[in-house]
Amino acid sequence: SRSASSFHQPCVGTARSNEENADINWDDLGFGHVPTDYMYVMRCSRDDKFSSGVLNRYGNIELSPSAGVLNYGQGLFEGLKAYQKQDGSGFLLFRPEENARRMQRGAERMCMPSLSVVQFIHAVKETVLANKRWVPPQGKGSLYIRPLLIGIGPVLGLAPAPDYMFLIYAAPVGTYFKEGLAPINLVIDDKIHRATPGGTGDVKTISNYAPALKAQTEAKTKGFTDVIYLDSINKKYLEEASSCNLFIVKGDVISTPATMGTILPGVTRKSIIEIAIDYGFRVEERLVSLEDLLDADEVFCTGTAVVVAPVSSITYQDQRYEYKTGTETVTQKLYNILTAIQMGLVEDRKNWTVEI
Ligand code: COI
Repeated sequence: SRSASSFHQPCVGTARSNEENADINWDDLGFGHVPTDYMYVMRCSRDDKFSSGVLNRYGNIELSPSAGVLNYGQGLFEGLKAYQKQDGSGFLLFRPEENARRMQRGAERMCMPSLSVVQFIHAVKETVLANKRWVPPQGKGSLYIRPLLIGIGPVLGLAPAPDYMFLIYAAPVGTYFKEGLAPINLVIDDKIHRATPGGTGDVKTISNYAPALKAQTEAKTKGFTDVIYLDSINKKYLEEASSCNLFIVKGDVISTPATMGTILPGVTRKSIIEIAIDYGFRVEERLVSLEDLLDADEVFCTGTAVVVAPVSSITYQDQRYEYKTGTETVTQKLYNILTAIQMGLVEDRKNWTVEI
């Protein structure tokens, strides 16, 4: 149902979604850039509020060379997914209000104006509907939705930009890692740190991601899937991987690094914690040491893009540690429950999904 269209904020645009499915091979989706039909754009100045949005044809945007985002990295991003319902009657978003609130918290940290939760969800719905022919059939993947909030006004000295843009684009995606649903191999980097106390590790600022590229690129050259970062003070507690949160399983206890300022509070992380508790596991959000990690039965990663990815090995100081993977694991059980809710295959008792 297109309830979003009755929302009081006008969405001026010419979005006409073609009823025909996009001409792509749904069996070959990875996590790459696929340009779709429309993007949602909203602008405002620092002392104002975001008001009306527009659906524009997807394409390049023009920025001043002195835009705040280009010079000082004043920008945030989000990530969420829309799944096609099994009977093809609509689409399901997963906890979009969590992304909206996280963007609000990030905006406060990065001195930017932000949208209301209602505005954010309305914009996401409009973007999905305008690009609906790009939503993969159920079982083939999802439409990944990428909201951005950036300082576009000119600055020269370090200061908040005078003007801001909120933009959403979307792309059809399958699995994030090249391994597909197969277990991944991680390596611990004890020299490069992702975040420091008092920094911005707990907000989804664009500037948290490029610093991981060096470690990630080196790891990939050596055949690893991604990198695990340790805390920057003691250099012995787990933080997260370049693109996702981390969990370990030992017996029926599931542990994950507590979000104490340096860890991104993932929506999938939060959901897996809730699901695990519902299914009778003990869940501990705490400092997770290297010893805990190396001694675990199972390790898995979570994230919107990654979903729940089983880890088969972790290499630390050239030593490889292996973990249980496969259909009989806690990881697989949690993956099955989460994705069944996201795709609307089981009753959504928690009201996590939002239908479009
Ligand atoms: C997501 O999981 O949605 C993210 O934003 C992580 C990104 C590195 C793909």
